[in-house]
Amino acid sequence: MTRKFSGDRLLIATHNKGKLEEMEHLLKPFGVSVVGAAEMDLPEPEETEDTFVGNARIKAHAAAKATGLPALSDDSGITIDALGGAPGVYTADWAETPNGRDFVMAMTRAHDELEAKNAPHPRFAQFRCTLVLAWPDGHDEAFEGVMPGHLVWPMRGDNGFGYDPMFVPEGFDITFAEMDRWEKNKISHRARAVKQFIAGCFG
Ligand code: IMP
Repeated sequence: MTRKFSGDRLLIATHNKGKLEEMEHLLKPFGVSVVGAAEMDLPEPEETEDTFVGNARIKAHAAAKATGLPALSDDSGITIDALGGAPGVYTADWAETPNGRDFVMAMTRAHDELEAKNAPHPRFAQFRCTLVLAWPDGHDEAFEGVMPGHLVWPMRGDNGFGYDPMFVPEGFDITFAEMDRWEKNKISHRARAVKQFIAGCFG
């Protein structure tokens, strides 16, 4: 049985303003006020697990413990079938350079590895988002949203972020980066995870 959220304040364990605003908007109907990590000067724990849910748990529990508030964290990335699920939890790491993140480099690596394997088309991949709500007493609940699709090359589109320019979601023939931002936000892996979270903890 999923534990329900019964308080009136929820900590969102993210420093990303966009994610915070989106959550605020989605949780308004439930009378919940959200607090961002930046306001609370939260520690950023090391993500040492090899699963999305493992890393989301680390972040949510660290935030709940530090603040005494229920805390929601997320961990996301892309899994590519022909690469055995890579980059997975290392999605952001593939973009890491000494001068910040470079997602053209990360996408080029994904494409090069697929070419080196002569991977057949369509090259199936999934964007995944895991949300974990942790309470200060140590209990947690996890929710996952998956957006299946396939990869294209060359990259297409200027919207979005990360690996969006090479990802065509199932049921569409444009990439996430060619899609209107609101359209993407309505159907994405993140939207799907949030729906599960709301149904589970507020339903
Ligand atoms: P994090 O969970 O915010 O650390 O995200 C991990 C990485 O996954 C990000 O750096 C992005 O590159 C990638 N990612 C997650 N969601 C999306 C998305 O909706 N579009 C493109 N890339 C994404």
